[in-house]
Amino acid sequence: MAIKFGRPIELRDAPRRQKDALASPSLDLTIRMRRNRKSEWARRLVRENVLTTDDLIWPMFVVDGHNTRTPVASMPGVDRLTVDQIVRDAERAAKLNIPCIALFPFTEPALRDEQGSEALNPDNLVCQAVRAIKKEFPDIGVLCDVALDPFTSHGHDGLIEGGKILNDETVAVLVQQALTQAEAGCDVIAPSDMMDGRIGAIREALDDNGFGDVQIMSYAAKYASAFYGPFRDAIGSAKTLTGDKRTYQMDSANSDEALREVELDIAEGADMVMVKPGMPYLDIVRRVKDHFAMPTFVYQVSGEYAMIAGAAANGWIDGERAMMESLVGFKRAGADGILTYFAPKAAEKIKAES
Ligand code: PBG
Repeated sequence: MAIKFGRPIELRDAPRRQKDALASPSLDLTIRMRRNRKSEWARRLVRENVLTTDDLIWPMFVVDGHNTRTPVASMPGVDRLTVDQIVRDAERAAKLNIPCIALFPFTEPALRDEQGSEALNPDNLVCQAVRAIKKEFPDIGVLCDVALDPFTSHGHDGLIEGGKILNDETVAVLVQQALTQAEAGCDVIAPSDMMDGRIGAIREALDDNGFGDVQIMSYAAKYASAFYGPFRDAIGSAKTLTGDKRTYQMDSANSDEALREVELDIAEGADMVMVKPGMPYLDIVRRVKDHFAMPTFVYQVSGEYAMIAGAAANGWIDGERAMMESLVGFKRAGADGILTYFAPKAAEKIKAES
């Protein structure tokens, strides 16, 4: 094999060089990468990663009321759903072969307080939704977020004293929240609060209370991110949040620290681990997967969704292609599954093409 190099290029020679090139066009190349890209069947044959509906977890927002779907302004195509409508979307998920859905509540301001007490109400919106879904569709996986931010008046994930987020006191409440959700019938507890020691405490409490089969997917490497903005709109805590979450969520400049976080959560009993957000943290997904070989998930968060859906709505990018490209990128980075608001759209596209 030889790659032949010509004379040094001079710009004024360009027209003549182009003519020469056309007259004798072949490089003496043995290896040509383009051969395997020559047609769709060949590209399919050598494709390294494939997105399937089995890779998807569909996050949904629950709101009080009846038979209503309210659009979330900053997330075009995503609605807040009343419990009866959540059940309809759970049915859609089941039909699309999406294995699991994740539930997040919009809590009325009147029900929010400093302690986030509504989180422990066995009749709160999340528990109602879990029961309603499980009654009609017992075979679909239901994941519940554990954190206090949808329920606190200050919008933080934990209890506050003197402007500080209390760790151990918060963990004690999170344990109760997890038990409340397990009692309602949820399959996967997903602590997103980033308090130290919560995975071990929750695992022990689940086991002690007869919920040994309830899995834990820990938001193990969760970064303090600007990309959660639209989610906070959706659950109604954008306006109430005082300050930021940088004393508990990770600094976006760190990577080794993510490995320590994941290692601890695995040691404390996490069945699956998650990296969040997704696209700006693909390197973390890869490191975590390579290092621990655990079931590794990634959350394509609300801001990532909003960027793609918003640009597509303006005609600035091809939304469908950008969606699929972003999702297969997570697979390529090593993710076993993806929490994404695109889940139903992506599943529909996968189904149509198979
Ligand atoms: C709550 C929680 C957040 C998200 C999931 N669980 C927001 C936050 O930590 O502020 C973000 C999801 C998204 O942006 O799509 N702790």
